[in-house]
Amino acid sequence: MMTDNDNFLMPKPESGFGNDRSNWKNYFHRRLRKNGDSSGRSSPSIHAKRRIVLLGATGSIGESTLQVIRAHSDRLELIGVAAGRQGDKLDAIAREFGVKETSLFCRDGLQGLERLACLPEADIVLVATTGTIALRPVLSAIAAGKDIALANKETLVVGGHLVMSAARASGSRVYPIDSEHNAIFQCLEGNPKRSSIKRLLLTASGGPFRETSLEALKNVTVEDALRHPNWSMGPKITVDSATMANKGLEMIEARWLFDVRPDQIDVVIHPQSIVHSMVEFCDDSIIAQLAPPSMTFAIQHILLYPERARGINETLDFTKVLSLEFRPPDEKKFPCLRLARESLDAGGFFPAAFSAANEVAVDEFLHRGLPFLAIPKVISHVLERTSFELPNNADDLIEAEAAVHTQAEIFLRQMKTLTA
Ligand SMILES: NC(=O)c1ccc[n+]([C@@H]2O[C@H](COP(=O)([O-])OP(=O)(O)OC[C@H]3O[C@@H](n4cnc5c(N)ncnc54)[C@H](OP(=O)(O)O)[C@@H]3O)[C@@H](O)[C@H]2O)c1
Repeated sequence: MMTDNDNFLMPKPESGFGNDRSNWKNYFHRRLRKNGDSSGRSSPSIHAKRRIVLLGATGSIGESTLQVIRAHSDRLELIGVAAGRQGDKLDAIAREFGVKETSLFCRDGLQGLERLACLPEADIVLVATTGTIALRPVLSAIAAGKDIALANKETLVVGGHLVMSAARASGSRVYPIDSEHNAIFQCLEGNPKRSSIKRLLLTASGGPFRETSLEALKNVTVEDALRHPNWSMGPKITVDSATMANKGLEMIEARWLFDVRPDQIDVVIHPQSIVHSMVEFCDDSIIAQLAPPSMTFAIQHILLYPERARGINETLDFTKVLSLEFRPPDEKKFPCLRLARESLDAGGFFPAAFSAANEVAVDEFLHRGLPFLAIPKVISHVLERTSFELPNNADDLIEAEAAVHTQAEIFLRQMKTLTA
């Protein structure tokens, strides 16, 4: 049972990574212990760089991670890269960074991902694949004592109970790279007691349809949905931002990362995407984290944690007028957000069912087989029929998730027959 003082995700001075500079040294000592040198002494060259395995190297987060590693090559070393299908791009990355260990899903399957996630030399595994393909590799990496830098949210939404209890058991830490959760993590530095948190305020840009009427949403196209006003991201998460399912997934992700109750997680629309999220404390003070809308800030923060070093992106310019607006979300216009909240409240298998149904619906929308407003209908249909208990092992969970995919696909076919 965790207490306020040993919540292992919260930044805390006494942990392997902490707030004061000496903890960078402690981190390397911890690595030495992991590597079997109980004396804690070794030649400095062994410990000069943090060694990173990057799953999803060819995607949007992958590219931002490579920018950070390029800029801080004196401290960071890429030792393994994995991707899905883009073999040429993966090879080019491996060549540029001198990486020997690669894995391509279409060639090496899940085994390849697992092998990379558990490379003995790796200190941290950055997970930037889409969907839940990385669930098993993440669990294997945790069992092998690796720390995890998690950009992917579906892994926690579906398997948060497995991932967080495995991390507690092994002492691995799960660091948030999703910008909202990274912001919360930063806001909690120096305030690690869970009992001092009143609520987490996740900010949301509102996506491309923030100002679009419900009536006009009937006719939006894939291209409209992929035109995000502030962020450049992969297609699935960009559509999730347009429906606001993304913010729903983030609420569920926050529940696992910070071990708070569902009623302690709120969403605030913030069109500028500069305040990445906030924490309201029990004394009603609110701490926020600000940066321009680029993922390099969160990625760099975690890869160098607990150190800080020069940033690699444009900074906020306070010599010009900078307006920051906040307003409540419209759950009538964006029912995916309501459905995610209801799933989070219901707990059990509901968040996994929400995520799996959403994945099927978004894929169909991206292939132009479903109108934008039908995405929440598919999710709602699945949630109304969800009867699974939450499986407590990865195999059963993956099987149950696959069953939801099938259920959603059957409903899609029925919808098409009705409208044909
Ligand atoms: N992009 C952002 O700004 C952002 C922000 C916060 C959180 N996230 C989260 O981060 C994750 C990645 O997002 P993204 O925008 O970077 O997606 P993306 O651009 O679509 O990239 C996905 C990456 O995953 C790889 N991949 C897909 N299926 C795979 C498989 N079966 N095995 C191994 N690799 C596989 C892809 O490889 P190939 O291209 O070679 O197939 C690609 O490298 C998502 O969970 C998203 O929600 C993204």
